[in-house]
Amino acid sequence: MKKIAVIGAGTMGNGIAHIFAQSGHDVSLIDVNEEALKKAISTIERNLDRQLTKNKITIAEVKSALQHIKTFTEMSEGVKGADLVIEAATENGDIKAKIFKTLDEVTDPSTILASNTSSISITKIAAGTSRPDKVIGMHFFNPVPVMKLVEVIRGYCTSDEVTASIMDITQKLGKVAVEVNDYPGFTSNRILMPMINEAIYTLHEGVAGVQEIDTVMKLGMAHPMGPLQLADFVGLDVCLAICNVLYEGFGNPKYAPCPLLVNMVTAGKMGKKSGEGFYDYSGGGKDLVVSKSFAQ
Ligand code: 3HC
Repeated sequence: MKKIAVIGAGTMGNGIAHIFAQSGHDVSLIDVNEEALKKAISTIERNLDRQLTKNKITIAEVKSALQHIKTFTEMSEGVKGADLVIEAATENGDIKAKIFKTLDEVTDPSTILASNTSSISITKIAAGTSRPDKVIGMHFFNPVPVMKLVEVIRGYCTSDEVTASIMDITQKLGKVAVEVNDYPGFTSNRILMPMINEAIYTLHEGVAGVQEIDTVMKLGMAHPMGPLQLADFVGLDVCLAICNVLYEGFGNPKYAPCPLLVNMVTAGKMGKKSGEGFYDYSGGGKDLVVSKSFAQ
C-alpha cells in the first residue's frame, strides 16, 4: 500500500497522516475546512519538531515526512489512486454514513475503507457501502505518534484478506495491531469507559475529590494520567457518546452514564478542548487546577 488518504484534519486525522508520512507513504489529508488543514500541517510540524528535539528522528526525516503530505478540500480529488482511505471525521453516525457512501462511489472498487471510529459499529458503516468485505476499523489512540496500539476491528463481513493487510501495514508503521470483533465499545472502550464513568460516579457521590481520584489511579495503578484527566483529554462529549453506545448496545444499566457527566457536557464543559472539564485549562493546562469544588 503506497498511497493513503485520511479524511478529517482534527487531532486524530493529523496524527494518522503524521505517522503514515513518516513511514514513507504518500498521504492525502482531506478536510472540507481549509483552515483546519493549515492548522493540521502546523501541528504535524510541531510534533515532528518535538521528535527531532528528542533525537528520535533526523532533520532529513522531518523534511521527507512533510513532503509526503498533500492537502485537499475535495474528497474525490484527494482519494484518487488511494489504496487505503482512513476516515477520522467527527464521531457522528450520520456524518460517517455520508462519507462512506461518497467514498464507495469515488474510490476504486479495490480500495480498502477504514474508520478510526471509537465506538460506531463497523458492521453498520460497512452495510451502507457496496463493499462490506473491504470496510474495517483502525482505532488509533491519542496522541497517535506516541501511542503504540491500533485496535483493528473486523466488521461482520470484513474479509480475512483485508484484515491481514491492515494488520500488516499497521505493524510496518511500528505500531502493535490487535484484532478484535465488532461489538459495542470494541475492546478498548468497553473497558476504558466504564472505568472513567465509575471515576465520575466516585466524584459525584462525594467519595473522593478530583485530584484524590486521579492520584489513586496514577500512583496506585501506574496509569500515566488519572481517569478524570484522561476524560478531559479524550473529550467529555466523546466519553458520554461512548457510554451511551455501551448502554444502548448492551441494554444493561451498569453502563448508564453518570448524571454529572451528562450535566457537564450539557453545560459545554467538554474538557481540554473547551478549556474546562474536571480541570481548568485556561492557563494552558501546565499546572492542572481543579475547575470547581464539585461539592455535594
Ligand atoms: N507527537 C509526538 N510526540 C509526542 C506527542 C505528539 N503529539 N505528545 C507527546 N509526545 C512525546 C513527548 O515528546 C515525550 O517524548 P519522550 O518520551 O521522548 O520524552 C513523550 O511523548 C511524553 O510526553 P511529555 O513528556 O510531554 O508528557 P507526558 O510524559 O505527560 O506524556 C502522554 C504525555 C503521552 C499523553 C501521557 O500522559 C499518556 O500516555 N497519557 C495517556 C494517554 C492515553 O491514555 N491515550 C489514550 C486515550 S483513549 C483514546 O485515544 C481512544 C478513544 O477512543 C477514547
